[in-house]
Amino acid sequence: MRMLVLGGTRFLGRAVVASALARGWQATVFNRGRSGSLAGGVTEVHGDRRKIENLEQLASRGPWDIVVDVPGVIPAEVRDAARVLAPHAGRYVFVSSVSAYRDWPAHPVDEGSPRHDGDPDLDVDTWDWGAGVYGPYKAGAEVAVEREAGGQRLIVRPGVILGPWEYSGRLTWWLERISRGGRFIAPGHPAQAIQPVDVRDVARFVIDQAAAGGTGVYNLAAPIGRDTFAGLLAACIAATGANATPVWTDDATLEAAGLWEWTQPPLWRRAAGTWRVDATRAFAARFVPRPLRATVADTWAWMRTGQRPFNDPRAALHGIPTDIEERLLAAAANGRAS
Ligand SMILES: NC(=O)c1ccc[n+]([C@@H]2O[C@H](COP(=O)([O-])OP(=O)(O)OC[C@H]3O[C@@H](n4cnc5c(N)ncnc54)[C@H](OP(=O)(O)O)[C@@H]3O)[C@@H](O)[C@H]2O)c1
Repeated sequence: MRMLVLGGTRFLGRAVVASALARGWQATVFNRGRSGSLAGGVTEVHGDRRKIENLEQLASRGPWDIVVDVPGVIPAEVRDAARVLAPHAGRYVFVSSVSAYRDWPAHPVDEGSPRHDGDPDLDVDTWDWGAGVYGPYKAGAEVAVEREAGGQRLIVRPGVILGPWEYSGRLTWWLERISRGGRFIAPGHPAQAIQPVDVRDVARFVIDQAAAGGTGVYNLAAPIGRDTFAGLLAACIAATGANATPVWTDDATLEAAGLWEWTQPPLWRRAAGTWRVDATRAFAARFVPRPLRATVADTWAWMRTGQRPFNDPRAALHGIPTDIEERLLAAAANGRAS
């Protein structure tokens, strides 16, 4: 099998490449060469996906059995890649997101839920996470892939992805904090369900499906209710071996302290549909999310190798600021004593 990965050097793309190489496939990655490089065995082609001439030069290296657009967000950029490369691909895969759903995270979603109105031809030079455009852009990008790649397309909509090489600072912040030991702030309720998935399981599903000729759309999330926040934190304690104790702190207290959902601390989010992403369709197609504790343990083991992930400024936004944590812990201790 010959596979082309647009991207490939930060997180999910790396896992897709590793999964392909483990099967003995030939892998080519296309990126600008800024975010990092890969170990041997991969053909690296450097270029800017925003330049049509770079995409056309890339296309001349085809055909491929599978092309995977891992990082695309801006619709016109995703459109152009699909327009130029899909004619040289057996299967064309686009990595979208649950954010493409109009109602996520307010409400539960499955693949039939409405998505944002996305413009497949929308073009911008840059975009900002804070602007609320990520979901509509991913939706527009999906429309572009549907139009340009037709029946060859496979679209996956992962929820939160964790694992080795994660650069957003979600699980890595929790592991780092818990490894320092002591009492730490745990958000909301221990039984709060969560459903992150392992990056390696997403990668495996993508290429299994593409290789089997799969098309269509799949949510990718762990089974609803399988994992809890308490389980995540217990796994972090077990992995790090730290002498650490969660101090469960209710949502109202966290909000009153000025903390931001989703990032402070990572994965704390109250919207009712956040962790109600129905991935039944993917499970029926042999998507097998490994236990969360395995993701946690492997991520900690990877962090201890000293390898550094892609340097994303968003990582600095993740985590409870130390001064706020100290205040909350002191208040909790006083409350316990009184
Ligand atoms: N993390 C999550 O929880 C989560 C959840 C749902 C969906 N997703 C989606 O999953 C995907 C994950 O992406 P990733 O960052 O892990 O992918 P990746 O493929 O590992 O890394 C991103 C790649 O894009 C390349 N790139 C960036 N700009 C480029 C340009 N103009 N031209 C050519 N190459 C360019 C980067 O290399 P250079 O910088 O060297 O060019 C890098 O190789 C995204 O689509 C994200 O929306 C993530």
